Amino acid sequence: MTDTFNRSISYLRVSVTDRCNLRCRYCMPEGGIERRGHSDILRSEEIIEICSAAVELGITKIRVTGGEPLVRKGITELCAELGKLGVELTLTTNGILLAQYAAALYSAGVSRVNVSLDTLNPDRFRELTRGGELSAVLRGIEAARSAGMSPLKINAVALRGVNDDEFEAFRQLTLDGTTEVRFIELMPIGEGKALWDSSFYTYDNEKLPPRMSVIAPVSHAFCPDCNRLRLTADGKIKPCLHSALELNVRGLHGDNLRSALLDAANAKPERHAGLTSAAPSESKRGMNRIGG
Ligand code: 5AD
Ligand code: SF4
Repeated sequence: MTDTFNRSISYLRVSVTDRCNLRCRYCMPEGGIERRGHSDILRSEEIIEICSAAVELGITKIRVTGGEPLVRKGITELCAELGKLGVELTLTTNGILLAQYAAALYSAGVSRVNVSLDTLNPDRFRELTRGGELSAVLRGIEAARSAGMSPLKINAVALRGVNDDEFEAFRQLTLDGTTEVRFIELMPIGEGKALWDSSFYTYDNEKLPPRMSVIAPVSHAFCPDCNRLRLTADGKIKPCLHSALELNVRGLHGDNLRSALLDAANAKPERHAGLTSAAPSESKRGMNRIGG
């Protein structure tokens, strides 16, 4: 049995909850998502066991995601355990609870956070997230900065008719010399499928100023360089974000766990489906159950 991943897989994204304290229109269905039983979600010990096996196989970076990771009880303690695995540990959050957690997360070993923030206009933010408070996110960003998390990255999903007039406002954020803004192309996945035709737009990476970029899964599929695996909150490995394929690792230990992880890595497709409204993502889960 090979004892490491044979592709250069080095990055594991770990979803620690399906829940979110926002309900963004392109991500969450109107009525929220079906409340899953507590027992469907991996316990912290299980997450640590799986991550530690993945580290033995070659993972060097772990990103904690959700849903919204900061709504998980005991998130700081879980991060502290993951931090002990000797990986580069980061987290993606919507920032709502970040002011409260930033310092503790940093002490626990989370070196940086990415904050998902699509608009800098409070009214639009409330409308897009169905009730969220922009000021809480801005306080969270400040707290992350004061805690020493740098560079701070802001991920804004590019949404025509929502934030296509906010380029300059986002650029202002980068003028401190450390904040980075990345526009993410809207993907036809989950709730994004129905919105895609009317809302998709993108920027040209070549023409953007320093510390601004586009993440372009739609216009430039980066599958051949993809070095990541995803662990879902209920214990499945998704070898590809846009494939329906999911391999269970819950309940496996030792060699069985390691060989299931290797199988998942080997099951990565050469490339994913086209990502248009005609050929949307084949993923069975929306981003609210995968994490950004
Ligand atoms: N396209 C692109 N990014 C998305 N996200 C959610 N849905 C989509 C989509 N359809 C990202 C956002 C969000 C995170 C959970 O995933 O950045 O905050
Ligand atoms: Fe919004 Fe992210 Fe929560 Fe989805 S997971 S509702 S995009 S904050």
